[in-house]
Amino acid sequence: MALVVRPARRSDAAAMAELINAIIAIGGTTAYEESFDAESMDAAYISLPQLVSCFVAEDDGEVVGFQGLMRSFDPDDPLPDGWATIGTFARVGLTQRGVGGALFAATLEAARAAGIDVIDATIRADNTGGLAFYSRQGFVDYDRLVGVPLKEGKPVDRIRKRFDVAR
Ligand SMILES: CC(C)(COP(=O)(O)OP(=O)(O)OC[C@H]1O[C@@H](n2cnc3c(N)ncnc32)[C@H](O)[C@@H]1OP(=O)(O)O)[C@@H](O)C(=O)NCCC(=O)NCCS
Repeated sequence: MALVVRPARRSDAAAMAELINAIIAIGGTTAYEESFDAESMDAAYISLPQLVSCFVAEDDGEVVGFQGLMRSFDPDDPLPDGWATIGTFARVGLTQRGVGGALFAATLEAARAAGIDVIDATIRADNTGGLAFYSRQGFVDYDRLVGVPLKEGKPVDRIRKRFDVAR
């Protein structure tokens, strides 16, 4: 793939929603359980006031992945000052081809420029691929949320990993 990584624009929201909805439909990886439309994707990953950065990866003009980094935005799960949380999504069928890694290079640069000290990745404990991906980028475990229920009630642990930007 000849990947181009660039900041997400509002006009990408529909393609990003379609990409993540395919991942949500398969289940078992992302913590999201409700599907997105262009409007909710824009609100969550493009126009979010706490957004530090959101990059898309394109291959031949098609969005094949995106990665968002945001400062604390969930009042139920506040992050310390100087921290931001990350989410990464590669198109179904196009994983393990360098999309996530290319996105992280851009995100890390944006994190540094924004003065972020620590990047949090909170991953479902059953998402072995996601855990392996973030470990490969240099994230290390720092906490575990035990038994966070999914929509239908099934408890799933979340593993929290951190990347120290200033290392
Ligand atoms: C997790 C995810 C974003 C990784 O993206 P990706 O484009 O496949 O990652 P890359 O191809 O850039 O991989 C980077 C490194 O991580 C490793 N890695 C990625 N996925 C892996 C997996 N499933 N198992 C083992 N290692 C994996 C790669 O082997 C690669 O290692 P290398 O640097 O030695 O070559 C992607 O699988 C995905 O979208 N999953 C569904 C959504 C999700 O779970 N997101 C994470 C929670 S926010």
